[in-house]
Amino acid sequence: MAVLVTGGAGYIGSHMVWALLDQGEEVVVLDRLSTGFDWAVAEAATLVVGDVADRNLVKETIRKHEVDAIIHFAGSVIVPESVADPLGYYLNNTAKSRDLIDVAIGNGVKNFIFSSTAAVYGSPETFPVMEEAPLRPESPYGTSKLMTEMMLRDCAAAHDFRYTALRYFNVSGADPKLRTGQSTKGATHLIKVACETATGKRPYMEVFGTDYATRDGTCVRDYVHVWDLVNAHYLALQRMRDGGGSLVANCGYGQGYSVLEVIEAVRRVAGTDFEVRMSGRRPGDTVAIVASNERCRYDLGWQPKHQGLEEIVGHALGWEAKLARRNRQ
Ligand code: UFG
Repeated sequence: MAVLVTGGAGYIGSHMVWALLDQGEEVVVLDRLSTGFDWAVAEAATLVVGDVADRNLVKETIRKHEVDAIIHFAGSVIVPESVADPLGYYLNNTAKSRDLIDVAIGNGVKNFIFSSTAAVYGSPETFPVMEEAPLRPESPYGTSKLMTEMMLRDCAAAHDFRYTALRYFNVSGADPKLRTGQSTKGATHLIKVACETATGKRPYMEVFGTDYATRDGTCVRDYVHVWDLVNAHYLALQRMRDGGGSLVANCGYGQGYSVLEVIEAVRRVAGTDFEVRMSGRRPGDTVAIVASNERCRYDLGWQPKHQGLEEIVGHALGWEAKLARRNRQ
């Protein structure tokens, strides 16, 4: 029996692979290596290079490894990119997920965990935002993920199949043991960008929008440590294997930080100053969003352990240093 991790060579997926191996699971990774790296996949896992929409390959992989659960991370994740290329996002995140779900159901896989996103809420009127809040995505990225959630909901009603959709808030940090981290080239995520600037990989960074209706004019987000996030997936896997039903749950801490607060934390932890330029708003950005995580705590028994911003930044910086050494070799 094995767990199939799509996108397992990417940032979050590579952490999931380590977390599953730590628990003694057999892991198969399916990744086409478009943004991920083969070296990011732990050696104890089997890497299959290919696309989640390659129906024959997915079918063969499920059968060969007796896959009982799929954790589906593969997809595109950059909000402004989705605004510029909506059809690319509907292809990668929606249409290809449809193929994967279809092949999973057709080959007897009953447990499915899906990487959803806080972007399904758009700009919520409530803080923290609960899962029942109106779903009004403001970017094709958010819509592309919401459509997949809806397919899963309908398939779970029609078939012997259950799913957990975890709506991620802002995932950041790295494995506390630094076995993996975020290696994405041309990364756009705030903590990664700030850490790259602090370690001299970028000459400066920009703050996108300083006139939002927030405490300091910059956007507010709920930054969740990647190791706590992947642990929520493992709990979801156990719950479904034990017969638990389908679930949609937010994954965040319920604590918001502004862009400027994050930058200050990076300066503090890195012990270095760096150039920050104030810039205009970025298309598709939500003003402020913070998770209610009651469902995750209550239904999954999630107990986050790495929620300090300084710890997240510390691990992210640790990974940047390791990556720099690796790239010099
Ligand atoms: N930001 C900057 N400068 C940068 C990078 C980001 O000012 O160089 C700002 C953004 O404008 C935004 C905030 O930092 O206000 C966070 O931006 P990220 O790109 O780090 O993340 P997003 O909030 O756009 O998106 C992430 C995930 C989504 C998730 C969303 C929910 O990619 O999957 O958080 O909040 F849905």
